[in-house]
Amino acid sequence: MKQQVVVVVAITALFSFLSLLLLPSPVRAFTVIMSDPGLVDTPQTGFTMTNDEALTDPQEQAAVYEIMKATGNGWAESIPDVCRGRWHGIECMPDKDDVYHVVSLSFGSLSDDTAFPTCDPTLSFISPSLLKLPHIRTLFFYRCFTNNPQPIPSFLSQLGPTLQSLVLRENGHVGSIPFQLGNLTWLRVLDLHANNLSSIIPSSLARLNRLRSLDLSNNRLTGGIPNLPTQMLNVLDLSQNFIQGQIPASLGKSTSLIKMDLSKNRLSGPIPDSLDGLKNLILLDLSYNRLVGPLPDSLGSLISLRVLILKVNSMENTRIPNETFSKLENLMVLVLSDMELEGPIPESLSRLPSLRVLHLDRNGLNGSIPLSFKGSENFSELRMNDNRLTGLIPFGKDMVWRLGRKLKLANNSGLCYDSSIGSDDSFELGIGYCDSEMTRPMTKQHLSSVDLQQPGQIHHSFSGSSSSAPIHMFLRLRVVILLLALLLL
Ligand SMILES: *[C@@H]1O[C@H](CO)[C@@H](O)[C@H](O)[C@H]1NC(C)=O
Ligand SMILES: *[C@@H]1O[C@H](CO)[C@@H](O)[C@H](O)[C@H]1NC(C)=O
Ligand SMILES: *[C@@H]1O[C@H](CO)[C@@H](O)[C@H](O)[C@H]1NC(C)=O
Ligand SMILES: *[C@@H]1O[C@H](CO)[C@@H](O)[C@H](O)[C@H]1NC(C)=O
Ligand SMILES: *[C@@H]1O[C@H](CO)[C@@H](O)[C@H](O)[C@H]1NC(C)=O
Ligand SMILES: *[C@@H]1O[C@H](CO)[C@@H](O)[C@H](O)[C@H]1NC(C)=O
Repeated sequence: MKQQVVVVVAITALFSFLSLLLLPSPVRAFTVIMSDPGLVDTPQTGFTMTNDEALTDPQEQAAVYEIMKATGNGWAESIPDVCRGRWHGIECMPDKDDVYHVVSLSFGSLSDDTAFPTCDPTLSFISPSLLKLPHIRTLFFYRCFTNNPQPIPSFLSQLGPTLQSLVLRENGHVGSIPFQLGNLTWLRVLDLHANNLSSIIPSSLARLNRLRSLDLSNNRLTGGIPNLPTQMLNVLDLSQNFIQGQIPASLGKSTSLIKMDLSKNRLSGPIPDSLDGLKNLILLDLSYNRLVGPLPDSLGSLISLRVLILKVNSMENTRIPNETFSKLENLMVLVLSDMELEGPIPESLSRLPSLRVLHLDRNGLNGSIPLSFKGSENFSELRMNDNRLTGLIPFGKDMVWRLGRKLKLANNSGLCYDSSIGSDDSFELGIGYCDSEMTRPMTKQHLSSVDLQQPGQIHHSFSGSSSSAPIHMFLRLRVVILLLALLLL
């Protein structure tokens, strides 16, 4: 069970975690639309069959036997009627003549609970008999061909009229993404995550204008980002490839985007101003690229943004803009580590009402930490280490104790704390006690000894105000994640 949750979380990744609090419209977008009017009712598995009379179409039955055999599942041939065989991994739908048709096939063990047939990774292949399933909507192959590396067969493109979801995750596929996949114009989900694909991203994918989710992450893809279908795309994940060139301005037209992850590539040039159209974007990760500054004002227009990760891009001579982020009322996580940023930390960062995690470490930021950070009781993680910050830290004792090791300040040229923090060594700030001449009297905070001697009180206020609410929300959202994952797969 735990494993299943882990895998599902991996599949839907941070995106799903964030979709917890999503606007209703993108969620609704995942509702299945029938593209096959010949079938009635919703998909049924062998466990939920309600129609005692219907039998599987004989040609499709034979095709399923062949597809199963090709994955090392010869046992399936002993099932007299595959749609009624009570095994996970197949879904069927009856037509009006009470004949069952296969609409979904899934392979690979996600966990002990989702017992799809596993593949024999040494000999499995994708059987062309798939083409004998004229109603197939969903294909799911997970860890199927890892010891028998093979290209993605281009014949899959012939499933164009019906196929809505093609998932080939962690399969060890090599070679190119077949340009013919551009013919799968009914696709809503294309997921080729974690293979060994080494081509460019074919421009034919622009034809997939019903696509909701495109995940090509963790391959060896090269070339630039082509024009992509913009109308309905919710998820774009091209992370962990060798993609180069600039971020195309046209991506700003994908106004339905909720998650955009282009991290760990070789993208260069600036972050385009055109991204300001992405009003539904919740997660933007451009980290580990070669992007240059300045940080554009357009980032401040991404009003739904909850997570912004730009770390490890060398933006020499770039400052953190004073006001750009101040409109991002939903921003919870801002990671600007290791970007060669300089200048001061803007006061506005202390006033973002939803901000919980702020990483500004390993830059060349200087000046003092704005006094306004004193009232930022909402932070759960704050990193400002490895900069050139100076002066007295503005944080109160409560915040220092509460954050503990999640408050990182070490390796700054002149940061120090004063007696308001207390002389207790139990926290490891990695900074020194202020010399009296450096101490600004106006920030001194005289805490009573009662506070110091009641760690229980501090603990209580910590768990009450900062921890329990997000955790509760997280659990509730897990259900949403599971539902979303089921719809997607
Ligand atoms: C689409 O399919 C047709 C044949 O049905 C083929 O000629 C064409 O090359 C395919 N196009 C793409 C982009 O896959
Ligand atoms: C990916 O393919 C390359 C050759 O193209 C090979 O050297 C490498 O081992 C493969 N990686 C995996 C994980 O299969
Ligand atoms: C940003 O704020 C600092 C401190 O308030 C101020 O000195 C600086 O001029 C401001 N910069 C811009 C571009 O507004
Ligand atoms: C702390 O969080 C609450 C709830 O999100 C918000 O209303 C409040 O403004 C935040 N406080 C600060 C100082 O940002
Ligand atoms: C911060 O560094 C810049 C040069 O990068 C310098 O011009 C400025 O005076 C410094 N500010 C402070 C407060 O040290
Ligand atoms: C301290 O921070 C600077 C600036 O980020 C960095 O170059 C240096 O390596 C750091 N020193 C240590 C000991 O980590």
